[in-house]
Amino acid sequence: MPEIKFYSGKTIPMEMHKVKIVQKLNLLPAKERLQKMKEAGFNTFMLHNGDIFMDMLTDSGVNAMSDNMQSAMLRADDAYAGSETFYRMRDKLEEIFGIAHLLPAHQGRACEHIIAQHFVKPGSCVIMNYHFTTSKAHVTRLGGHVEELVKDEGLVTKSTLPFKGNIDLDKLKACIEKEGAENVAYLRLEAGTNLIGGQPISYENMKAATELAKQYGIMTLLDASLLQDNLYFIKTREDSMKDKSIREITRMVADLFDMIYFSGRKFGFGRGGGILVRDEALFHEMEDYITMFEGFLTYGGMSVKEMEAMIIGFDETMDFDVISQAPQFIKHCVDELDAAGIPMVTPGGGLGAHIDAREVVKHIPAEQYPAGSLVAALYLCGGIRGMERGTLSEERNADGSEHIASVEMVRLAFPRRVFTLSQTEYVIDRVKWLYDHRELIGGLRFVHEPKTLRFFTGKLEPVSDWPEKLIEAYIAEFGEDQ
Ligand SMILES: Cc1ncc(COP(=O)(O)O)c(C=O)c1O
Repeated sequence: MPEIKFYSGKTIPMEMHKVKIVQKLNLLPAKERLQKMKEAGFNTFMLHNGDIFMDMLTDSGVNAMSDNMQSAMLRADDAYAGSETFYRMRDKLEEIFGIAHLLPAHQGRACEHIIAQHFVKPGSCVIMNYHFTTSKAHVTRLGGHVEELVKDEGLVTKSTLPFKGNIDLDKLKACIEKEGAENVAYLRLEAGTNLIGGQPISYENMKAATELAKQYGIMTLLDASLLQDNLYFIKTREDSMKDKSIREITRMVADLFDMIYFSGRKFGFGRGGGILVRDEALFHEMEDYITMFEGFLTYGGMSVKEMEAMIIGFDETMDFDVISQAPQFIKHCVDELDAAGIPMVTPGGGLGAHIDAREVVKHIPAEQYPAGSLVAALYLCGGIRGMERGTLSEERNADGSEHIASVEMVRLAFPRRVFTLSQTEYVIDRVKWLYDHRELIGGLRFVHEPKTLRFFTGKLEPVSDWPEKLIEAYIAEFGEDQ
């Protein structure tokens, strides 16, 4: 998307699409939102979508489809085995990534399950720039452990560095030496690093890290779920790459890796997933997991309609206008909030705008989940659903103590091509109001705590009557019906 200049001299993000199908939104009155939040156990995952005004939980499976994606669904070839849709998908991915072998799977974590199942043994180490919740859980479930070697500066929330997702090459070498190359199951680099604010990794860093892994005979794996944002940042922030097309950059990135997997709920704007395997023998070794856990080899648990939509979505991902939309909206939101003095993760990355909850609600102890509390408060004050990305999303240490997350954030995701600028302005406004009333927000404690991935289905309660007090202040400002 070109930066369109206005007569006023301002530059604001511009939608390079028009709305053709709409879904009505509900803005429940403030007191009803309080009731809904109680029913959801102060966990935004447990809210019903109909009770939400701005659903900024995630970009997963909720990106807008284009007219071309929807019309492609009509030509889906329904067949248990040998669907022509599968071959079209495989060929499109080969055209883009240059890898011929595709293992289809129903979503990103299914790919992670299969990869971990094949490579991780008790005692194995998996090296990552940074973990993603499900990518780590699959490794630890099998007795492996994860080493996260993102550069220290990646965890500094306020920064101007362009590639905060970069892995530390010195730490990578030291880690391989310490663990022993034979115990390193694989090196996983995550594009658009989800849990540290959608921060990108540079091409140069990916190249150096994969070269090092190859010197030690370690398999290299790219998590391409958020590659579209990362491609945008490589083109706009990495000097040596600015004259390359998105297709050229994608191919250069792909050439570095032995395997690539993606969540099609993000990459491809549909619902599905897949693993691309360069080595044919390895591909055949891994096929059995697909038939056992996912489905036959030509659909892997996906609907063929979604597969057809994604084939178009992959091509749209190669369109600079399309992949510019989310990062530019995110930048607008981050810059406005940052200018108002609100602690944001800077520079704005992909995926969403991230608020540094540890700084906003300094008075809430880490064990009472500052980001979990802030995200619950934001639903109360505006019907905006974000996602906690902090201690609540971690699993407890073996001794039962809290594993305090290195970053404690509220994520406001920008699903692609979904929200307008006035909706974005509304979110900015409500975050500002909440920031000015942050002392009213209190902590949370678990009343039902699942052992694995507790953030999805856990139930919590406030440690005091702070939600009631917050709603009272909100109503005093905006009235009962907002
Ligand atoms: C970087 C990354 N990897 C993997 C996944 C898992 O994908 P899925 O939600 O399709 O299982 C996600 C999902 O958010 C992700 O952001």
